[in-house]
Amino acid sequence: MIPPIVRESIDGVKLLLEKNELPNYAKKLPSYFQTTTGIALLAGLLLLGFALLKGVSMYIMRMTIIIMSRHIEYEQKNDIFRHYQKLGQSFYGKNYTGDLMNRISDDVSKVRLFTGPAIMYALNLSCMIILVVGLMLYTNAEITLYVLIPLPILAVTIYLVSDAMNKKSDKIQQKLSNITSFVQETFAGVHVLKSYAAEDYFASDFEKINEEYKNDNIDLVKINGVFMPVVLGLVGLSILITIYVGGNAVVDGSFSLGNIVEFIIYVNMLTWPVASLGYVTSLVQRGAASQKRIDEFMNVKPDLDEGELVITSLQNSIEFVNVFFQYPETDSWVLRDISFKIKTNTKFGIIGTTGSGKSTIAKLLVGVYRPTKGQILVDGKPIEDYNRSKLNELFGYVAQDIFLFSETLRDNILFGSANSSVEKNLSYAIRAAALDVEIANFPNGLETMLGERGITLSGGQKQRTAIARALVKKPKILLIDDGLSAVDTKTEVAIKNSLSIHSNEQTFINISHRISSVQDCEHIIFLDEGVIIEEGNHQNLLYKKGIYAELFDKQMMVAED
Ligand SMILES: Nc1ncnc2c1ncn2[C@@H]1O[C@H](COP(=O)(O)OP(=O)(O)OP(=O)(O)O)[C@@H](O)[C@H]1O
Ligand SMILES: [Mg+2]
Repeated sequence: MIPPIVRESIDGVKLLLEKNELPNYAKKLPSYFQTTTGIALLAGLLLLGFALLKGVSMYIMRMTIIIMSRHIEYEQKNDIFRHYQKLGQSFYGKNYTGDLMNRISDDVSKVRLFTGPAIMYALNLSCMIILVVGLMLYTNAEITLYVLIPLPILAVTIYLVSDAMNKKSDKIQQKLSNITSFVQETFAGVHVLKSYAAEDYFASDFEKINEEYKNDNIDLVKINGVFMPVVLGLVGLSILITIYVGGNAVVDGSFSLGNIVEFIIYVNMLTWPVASLGYVTSLVQRGAASQKRIDEFMNVKPDLDEGELVITSLQNSIEFVNVFFQYPETDSWVLRDISFKIKTNTKFGIIGTTGSGKSTIAKLLVGVYRPTKGQILVDGKPIEDYNRSKLNELFGYVAQDIFLFSETLRDNILFGSANSSVEKNLSYAIRAAALDVEIANFPNGLETMLGERGITLSGGQKQRTAIARALVKKPKILLIDDGLSAVDTKTEVAIKNSLSIHSNEQTFINISHRISSVQDCEHIIFLDEGVIIEEGNHQNLLYKKGIYAELFDKQMMVAED
């Protein structure tokens, strides 16, 4: 409505000044609108009113469309995160963490630019073009066609330029994440770097990637630099055409001075929608590409098929029956023909040389992997038949590579099982893991922050935190993979004594390099290169005078030294 109002006011004032005649609409108005000032004032008030209306409409448009896109983004992020958690080790073995992070952050943002701004601009632009071009054609079809000639060129130019800019920006984004990872890794391992005096080496590496980043940014500035002049040039061309063609028409008498100003405003009104046509197209393309990348991961099926059997306690045993295992994407057997039986409420020891497959057995037990051949039977039924999360609730698992989160010590111990019945066990778990003395010395006790901005625990403290994490659930099956390797023998004995209090209601599977750690187990298997080479209880194994007995002698000698 704004351009016609401007036209009417200009033509009205001109009529009054040149011919001393009032325009038709002014004749019906009160007398104070019947002067040149009055006509201008009326136009001003109307323009103000319409500008306000435009502002309110734009506010409502953002409130609906952009907010909707934020809701979609929220749902999408949650979905992806949940899905990631379901995916198995074979997926994580193939894909980089950085890639996973990008898809949940960067790609989701690009999809949001589609569901929000792209849709909003597309609607805005279609309405604007239809209304404005309609009004122009209605006013003067011939001049309209001349004036619109440069606009398609503008749209195409902007599409090409914004496409080039987006590609550059993606590259810059990539370079930036290279810089971030480099800095992160450098300073995470800064003590190693310093101890090898490798500062200059790292600095020159950093300079290289930083230089690439700078060069790409300079290229982007160059593209940006030509962008605005081109847009303004094309808009200027449209305005020139309006004045030239319109001016001739004014001389003919078929166009008025007001019409020329009206058309110039139309051209300006069309500039942004036409310009955003190119921008929207590239947003749509990028949104589609990102959605495709997200779908790639979302379509990966969780690789562990799980059954429905619900288990609340181990009644009889867990049995490995001729289990063979190969890690995905590799072709050598890590475990070969492994058979053993762990009876409920007994202690079971696994010992062996490094790389012999002990941790792999632990991972098979907790269902991180499935056997390649053979079967694992839980109470006589295949492990695949059980509901996985129910089965895992039986286990308190202390993995060999312990991972603590940057949270408080309490949250790390309660980890995912924070309910009142578990919290009751907290002090027992801390005492049983021999952590109580240290916690008392920490600045904030249990509320001490770990990791990143908190304190860093020693190797042995980490292991005992992980043991407390496993014990706090009072698990039916305690599975410790090399969990006592970093504590001294005295502490180890203390921990094992406190564990044995529950030994008649708990199955304990202990994996270790140290014979002293497993010698009190009812059954011990000795693993070498994926095969069980000896098994029995401590006495039997010593009696056999095989590799176990040999290892025992060696370790005894070291202990006596
Ligand atoms: N994710 C994996 N992908 C491929 N191969 C693996 C993977 N994890 C372990 N391996 C290989 O499997 C073999 C057994 O590893 P495992 O971790 O079970 O040994 P381990 O007996 O626990 O050794 P250690 O005493 O050093 O802890 C090793 O040769 C190792 O290289
Ligand atoms: Mg291991």
